Amino acid sequence: MAYYLIAGASGYVGSRLAERLLTAGHRVRGLVRNPDTPTVERLAARGMSVWTGDLTRPDTLVGVAESVSAVYNLTSCLVIKNGSLRHTFVDGNQHLIAACSRARSVRAYLFTSNVAAYGNPGATLVGEDHPIAPTHALGTVMVAAEQTIMQAAREHRFPAIILRCGSIYGPGRDPIDAVAQGVATIYGDGRNFVSHIHVDDLINMLVALPSEGQPGAIYNVGDDQPMRLIELLSEVRQRLGMVPPRTFSPASALAAGLDPAIIGMLTASVRLDNRRLKHDLHLTLRYPSLRTWLDERLPTETAISVGV
Ligand SMILES: NC(=O)c1ccc[n+]([C@@H]2O[C@H](COP(=O)([O-])OP(=O)(O)OC[C@H]3O[C@@H](n4cnc5c(N)ncnc54)[C@H](OP(=O)(O)O)[C@@H]3O)[C@@H](O)[C@H]2O)c1
Repeated sequence: MAYYLIAGASGYVGSRLAERLLTAGHRVRGLVRNPDTPTVERLAARGMSVWTGDLTRPDTLVGVAESVSAVYNLTSCLVIKNGSLRHTFVDGNQHLIAACSRARSVRAYLFTSNVAAYGNPGATLVGEDHPIAPTHALGTVMVAAEQTIMQAAREHRFPAIILRCGSIYGPGRDPIDAVAQGVATIYGDGRNFVSHIHVDDLINMLVALPSEGQPGAIYNVGDDQPMRLIELLSEVRQRLGMVPPRTFSPASALAAGLDPAIIGMLTASVRLDNRRLKHDLHLTLRYPSLRTWLDERLPTETAISVGV
């Protein structure tokens, strides 16, 4: 039985990971900002010990990693302004790493970064050694966060692993629902590649990485077949019996008040090469392509009957 710390245990990925580890009989400490939510209460009832804290406030992290062997930093930030991104991702990792270093029990530290560090490399298959070229605020901050973590790994042999995750989907975060609800919008021509990963596959990776990942490594986390955005949304719409998607200019998104960093994320083309992770974890994906998920959720026979 191992002891895990999950920062962001109330989140989409964090709560599922906590559930999985508890089911396997492990001890889990969940760091959350607000313990009074149905998700946290449910996990606490299942045996998770709740630590109320905030990664941007080091005074709330004293002792948080005590006796813990593996740490997951799965925190996220949706606020782009007022330095929030930097506070969460750069300062937050710094504070959590300091708490882990003091504990002396931590053998693995995993941070879920994203693909913004790569910028907009187009149709090239992007491995982890591809040049870093952020094109918007989120990318710049993620590069700084990753550098902070890698510096600790290099200078202090801190056992960190960085995961550059593609777009995470699954039950409750489903491109099919987004299309059906009219919130899947294409800015630009839609020919940009988007890398996806199903949450079940991601959880399998997170469980395996503390023992099978290489300390100090960066891993791309995506499925085997990144799709062009327009290809994906056209296919979903076809299966739902809808007309093909419209496209909108990024300028119209700017005019509508969307933050340039969000537009940058929505229009970037990043086609992740996942071979390093699959090699190190000897992994077969349950959802090697988003089409596997579409086939499960919207089999073609259903799609035809919906369209009739
Ligand atoms: N979703 C994606 O498509 C995607 C893509 C690439 C990478 N990622 C990364 O994958 C990880 C998991 O994503 P997710 O979708 O599960 O995120 P999520 O559902 O938004 O959950 C994020 C969690 O972080 C917590 N949090 C935020 N700021 C915090 C702080 N200062 N101190 C402590 N906790 C804090 C939130 O707590 P509250 O409940 O208090 O707000 C929430 O539980 C994140 O690191 C994210 O950046 C996600």
